[in-house]
Amino acid sequence: MRATQEYGDLVGFRMGPKRLYLVNHPDYFKHVLCDNPGNYLKGIGLVDAKPLLGNGLLTSEGDLWASQRRLLQAAYRGERLEGFSLSMVETTRIMLDRWQAYANRDQPLDIAQEMVRLTVKILGFTLLHTDLENKADMLAANLTVITRWAMSQMTALFRLPLSIPTPGNLRAQRALHQLDQLVQGIVYDRYQKDTDGYNDILSLLLSEKNGNGSQHAIDKQVRDEIMTLLLAGHETTAATLTWTWYLLSQHAEVERRLHQELDQVLSGRNPTLADLPHLVYTRMLIDEVLRLYPPIWVIPRKTIAEDRMGGFTIPAHSDLLLSVYSLHRHPDFWKTPHACDPERFTAEQSAGRAPFSYLPFGAGPRSCLGSRFGLAEVILIVATVAQRYRFELVSQNTVEPEASLTLHPRHGIVMRLLKRR
Ligand code: HEM
Repeated sequence: MRATQEYGDLVGFRMGPKRLYLVNHPDYFKHVLCDNPGNYLKGIGLVDAKPLLGNGLLTSEGDLWASQRRLLQAAYRGERLEGFSLSMVETTRIMLDRWQAYANRDQPLDIAQEMVRLTVKILGFTLLHTDLENKADMLAANLTVITRWAMSQMTALFRLPLSIPTPGNLRAQRALHQLDQLVQGIVYDRYQKDTDGYNDILSLLLSEKNGNGSQHAIDKQVRDEIMTLLLAGHETTAATLTWTWYLLSQHAEVERRLHQELDQVLSGRNPTLADLPHLVYTRMLIDEVLRLYPPIWVIPRKTIAEDRMGGFTIPAHSDLLLSVYSLHRHPDFWKTPHACDPERFTAEQSAGRAPFSYLPFGAGPRSCLGSRFGLAEVILIVATVAQRYRFELVSQNTVEPEASLTLHPRHGIVMRLLKRR
């Protein structure tokens, strides 16, 4: 934020041994993501997470990426999404029943941890048709170890390959091994079964394997896609939900408007996918949460050939950081950019917004694969939970964002549950 305030919308700077370019103007986002995407590869951070993600959708390029994207894109539409939405609401309902004891004892909860647990469980059902109840904490903790490791690689002066046994590398290796064991176990278990009758993403990936290369190559590709979707699909939605509960606890009028809409549209029943078009204020609230705290706060890219932007030359093989966080708070494009105001997302106000000034899901061919799934999930969970509970902040630590692979609260957020009904 300071760099953009002092130097403008394209800023070159050093981080360790690297020279980076910070990008902060809607036109430059459009140029990189939509007008000239063929000149850009995925950049730092993501590339560093390759030991975890392999050639999954987030990190692959070229023909492999294009065919996997086509396959998986179809999976998050229509009937499958309908089925997934039932899992989302049911898993949330089970969490709320567990919360009852906390509410009765007036015992606070770390809401950030609860949201991670919930979104990992939902991924278990939708991706793998598996109840990860007892594995959710292990899975989330191991994914965190590896994303932290990837972030440390990004800024390291000297990179040591994962095979060199430094304490950090050993931790990452252990986490990777545990995740691999879990995912391989589930995949091999499924190989033994007929994949018909399962409506999850794993069955779709496995049904592709016939006639599509060697068994080994396919196993690795299935593993990579599952790891990718586990990583891309849990921390993003969990962070969005956590920031939503935090902002609601700080803005009584926004909370009142949300409750009013939920009571009017749902009258106490569970929400369904068909309710989404009617939950207009809930959607505006989520749009505002994603503006203030975009989980993917930066989109990394690397130039292939030299490029020009805003009168400047960017050399070949340069690392760019497209800063979604500062774009969403850019004073030329947002009035009172740091205030929480869902009203800025009414149809009228949205119509007047500069194109490419709001990009929580990215843009162009590499935009978020799970945006429909993720938005539906967040809205259904907010609608289910907020009918039953309000939250009161009791954290001793100040609530501040930590810019890791996603933007999440550094110390978690401890909250007390207040029953609504
Ligand atoms: C609120 C939730 C989410 C946000 C804010 C979000 C944001 C993003 C963004 C900004 C990108 C583009 C990254 C880039 O261009 O380098 C992306 C890509 C991606 N997202 Fe999401 N995401 C969310 C939820 C999900 C979910 C739930 C899934 C899957 C279940 C998912 C799967 C993916 C995948 C696979 C990609 C890579 C697509 C490609 O390169 O073709 N995301 N996401």
